Amino acid sequence: MKEELSCGTVSCQTNLDQNYWDNQWQKKETGWDIGYSSPAIEEYILQYPNKEAKILIPGCGNGYEAEFLWNLGFRNITVLDIAPNAVEILENKYKDKVGISVICEDFFQHEGNYELVIEQTFFCAIPTLLRNQYASKMHELLNENGRIIGVMFNRNFEKKGPPFGGSIPEYQFIFKKYFEIQKMEECYNSIEARKGSEIFINLKKNKMKANMGSFDRIIRLLIAAIIAYLFYIHYISGVFGIVLVVVAVVFALTSFIGFCPLYRLLGMNTCKKN
Ligand SMILES: C[S@@+](CC[C@H](N)C(=O)[O-])C[C@H]1O[C@@H](n2cnc3c(N)ncnc32)[C@H](O)[C@@H]1O
Repeated sequence: MKEELSCGTVSCQTNLDQNYWDNQWQKKETGWDIGYSSPAIEEYILQYPNKEAKILIPGCGNGYEAEFLWNLGFRNITVLDIAPNAVEILENKYKDKVGISVICEDFFQHEGNYELVIEQTFFCAIPTLLRNQYASKMHELLNENGRIIGVMFNRNFEKKGPPFGGSIPEYQFIFKKYFEIQKMEECYNSIEARKGSEIFINLKKNKMKANMGSFDRIIRLLIAAIIAYLFYIHYISGVFGIVLVVVAVVFALTSFIGFCPLYRLLGMNTCKKN
């Protein structure tokens, strides 16, 4: 087991792109690798009821959890990493294990639909500026009842990352827009080297909960109707007219479903408070 939590490299300040990560793998500078699947994640998986679940492990590195899942009978597992050198190792390791797909891709470009995403030292590896994008991408990749589970650092690092640390309030702020935070608390079964510096997360995807009150919906419909009428009588036309018609369509649609994605991002809600 490695005691060192940092990436242990001199190139921590360079762009964290495919080259950077592939270099780490090529030089075998994988100080984050604990050498087996995380006990906290194993404990969660052991009680997970649906063996048919589509499961994604992004930024998986050696992807030990995939093997653990496979041994338990899960057969719909995708492991994904941006580094071709890591993926080569995985392809060899899992070549006889039908039910584990290995993908070499940037997580942010990945398309798919999963029930469960397993997080371990991937979130802390991406630039902090992309954290919001990470949360929204996870939301997009998960199905209606989907969730992210796993471990995240609950500490900061002296050296410039990766890894990039953080705290529960920071994570709550990022994830609450997209997820119901069912668990985000100190991890009691971390590995020795990470004891006291990790939290366990269990984040359930937010449904498109209505965030628009009746008054708001009526106003939107009225505005949409007025625009449609003005366009119809050629009072507005050209590019300006088309832009307004697009706005009218968005207003009508959001009013119809009672949900405004922009409100979600801004943390707004015009529904009547109980
Ligand atoms: C700190 S390592 C963690 C590996 C593994 N999860 C573990 O705990 O051992 C981060 C991994 O994420 C991969 N990675 C970094 N950025 C990525 C991205 N945008 N898309 C997919 N994989 C990425 C790296 O190649 C590296 O293997």
